[in-house]
Amino acid sequence: MRIRHPLLVVALATAALTATPAAAFATTGGHPPVGSGTTIHDTQPSLRILAQRSGLRVGAAVNMDLYGSDATYTAIVNQQFSTVSPENVMKWQLVEPTQGTYDWAPADRLVAGARAAHQLVRGHTLVWHNQLPSWLSTDGVTTSFTPQQVRDLLHKHVTDEVTHFKGQIWQWDVVNEAFADDGTPRQDIFYQAYQALGMNGTDYIADAFRWAHEADPRALLFYNDYNLEFTGAKSNAVYAFVQQLQAQGVPIDGVGFQGHLDTQYGFPDLQNNLTRFAALGLKVALTEVDVRTFVQPDPANPGAYTDIPLTPALQATQQSYWTQLLQACLAVRQCLSFTAWGVDDGHSWIPGVFHGEGAGLLFDPSYHPKPQYQELRKVLLTTHAPRRS
Ligand code: XIL
Repeated sequence: MRIRHPLLVVALATAALTATPAAAFATTGGHPPVGSGTTIHDTQPSLRILAQRSGLRVGAAVNMDLYGSDATYTAIVNQQFSTVSPENVMKWQLVEPTQGTYDWAPADRLVAGARAAHQLVRGHTLVWHNQLPSWLSTDGVTTSFTPQQVRDLLHKHVTDEVTHFKGQIWQWDVVNEAFADDGTPRQDIFYQAYQALGMNGTDYIADAFRWAHEADPRALLFYNDYNLEFTGAKSNAVYAFVQQLQAQGVPIDGVGFQGHLDTQYGFPDLQNNLTRFAALGLKVALTEVDVRTFVQPDPANPGAYTDIPLTPALQATQQSYWTQLLQACLAVRQCLSFTAWGVDDGHSWIPGVFHGEGAGLLFDPSYHPKPQYQELRKVLLTTHAPRRS
């Protein structure tokens, strides 16, 4: 069933939320099934349809090893989300594995798929100290190129990548994670090169925005980082820095709040931070949301973990964090999109990076929607908060 009329959507969705007996999903651990047979889309309006009421785009980072080959994964991406981000395939390491030889194929596939599914694309990411090609740097801080060469390579990279995708990217994460948690600029190869050239180390950031704007004047250009959700040294430093960029006439349109939260920390004063950045005349977005928690060890596999939260209380905290993240975005009219960093817990970056933690996403490894997913639907159903653009 395809639903287009917004009022009908709301009526049906309300009915689905209130009238569906929990017992109906007993065989799928309490989650409505997705995949073979019934899909979520057949039984209840998707996140993307519900979010449309407020003009909000909901998104997911897409793993190109699954997209197009795993039918259930692909169906969820297309049915549930109205914007997509490449989880990896637009990063410098992936697009230029050998100096001078580009591989655009996986990213092109995502862009084409997004167009077919009426989705917008968040380009992620042009300049980052991580996932640089090994010919340029293996550890993000050392390179064999001279400072001038690094600047020239950066110029070429930004220009070539933005030009390749010109007209097809809604928001570009132009620069990612340029500040440390203590608010000092990260001294990566770009920072060091610019300092060695007698400039401010952070001048590479202004350059990257200017070059990106020259290559695609219509794309929205974002600075993207984590821990901006919390007021503190880092958020304050970025807040001051983006004002400097604006004062210099640098074409920055927005700031991306990654939103990688963890239940062991308190919920951030996110809405305050979204509001103060938006008050600078910037768009904001939640760009990489996941809410990780400690998970149960796998009894059959010593040293390995399941995707089940350690306690019901932690699961409840996760749900509450997802709800509050979305509510904060909806409360700020300049918050254009809300993107989850992946689809399902079986393909999340969390277990590989945060020992003993996981269960951060909206779908379980069998692609069943988790309670967090239902929470987001409820928030979208009960909130009508139009965006500014
Ligand atoms: C992660 C991907 O999810 C992993 O697959 C990859 O191995 C490393 O990068 N902040 C970012 C993202 O901006 O690009 C990172 O993505 C997660 C943290």
